[in-house]
Amino acid sequence: MLMPPVLLHLVVVGAAILAACGPAPVAKTAGGVEAGANLDARGLYAANCARCHGGDLKGTTQGPPFLHAVYAPGHHGDAAFAVAVKSGVRPHHWNFGPMPSIPGLDDRQIALIVAFVRAEQEAVGVR
Ligand code: HEC
Repeated sequence: MLMPPVLLHLVVVGAAILAACGPAPVAKTAGGVEAGANLDARGLYAANCARCHGGDLKGTTQGPPFLHAVYAPGHHGDAAFAVAVKSGVRPHHWNFGPMPSIPGLDDRQIALIVAFVRAEQEAVGVR
């Protein structure tokens, strides 16, 4: 069965769009290979989280590192990130004091930040 060229074109374009919308590739951002979505995510992280958790995710005097076993996916799942952003965090693991809630981020942006953090963790073997 032969498809009319127009239909075939639609199928090919459709597949390409689907592929482009698939899960963001696990970007080795530490190694320099970055997907577009992760550039967004890096920017969101830098603007909202880096001042305490560090531009390199290694923490600051204001907050703990994410490249740490405490924040591995099995210890603090993705949901814990959403709760932290929306409700803030009472100090319980460290002595930095509380984390305030971070306003102005929607679920998609939080998911991008989490994906960025997970990719950075993965790149250094925090899993
Ligand atoms: C003003 C400083 C500050 C900023 C900004 C900040 N955090 Fe935090 N965050 C903290 C501190 C301090 C803790 C540690 C609290 C503890 O467990 O002692 C923390 C803990 C966390 C935790 C662990 C929560 C838990 O359940 O233990 C997550 C997840 C987190 N932050 C995510 C984020 C994300 C994502 C952003 C950016 C959108 C962000 N933080 C921005 C200070 C900050």
